[in-house]
Amino acid sequence: MADHLLALGYTNITVLDISAKAIGRAKLRLGDKSNEIKWIVSDVLNIVTGDQYDLWHDRAAFHFLTEPEDQIKYVAAVAKYLNANGKLIIGTFSIDGPEKCSGLAVERHSPASLSNIFREHFHLTGSMEHIHHTPFNTGQLFNYSWFQNYHNL
Ligand SMILES: C[S@@+](CC[C@H](N)C(=O)[O-])C[C@H]1O[C@@H](n2cnc3c(N)ncnc32)[C@H](O)[C@@H]1O
Repeated sequence: MADHLLALGYTNITVLDISAKAIGRAKLRLGDKSNEIKWIVSDVLNIVTGDQYDLWHDRAAFHFLTEPEDQIKYVAAVAKYLNANGKLIIGTFSIDGPEKCSGLAVERHSPASLSNIFREHFHLTGSMEHIHHTPFNTGQLFNYSWFQNYHNL
């Protein structure tokens, strides 16, 4: 995603992952272009940055947060770093998606369950289901839901 955003001319792109190895691989893939991106190795729940964003996009990380208190912490982080007119996109395994990812338990979501979790700060503006075809020839059903801040109602 970051590669495409760069190619389209977007700036102030940050990629965050808890895994230094994952960040390292993405940097390698981008080569010199990786210097145009800010890389943060951190648990998203402990994110600290001086930047504010117009878009927060999460693909397949939020579903690892299975504890309600972690989900609340996550919502607070998004509310802190997303601009008032910003957009939030959350992609997780769908209600009919896999029960685990990389051997770890996940919480599967629908637009309604996400809407409920994010309701204090964000309202749902759309959603879609998507089948991700993995390199292992399986299909994983994802739900993508997008939200706006209540400032924009
Ligand atoms: C299925 S991968 C998706 C990676 C990438 N977002 C993508 O769409 O290709 C899930 C990623 O979530 C990261 N992750 C899991 N829990 C996290 C957390 N609490 N904070 C930050 N990253 C986390 C993992 O290290 C892993 O790279």
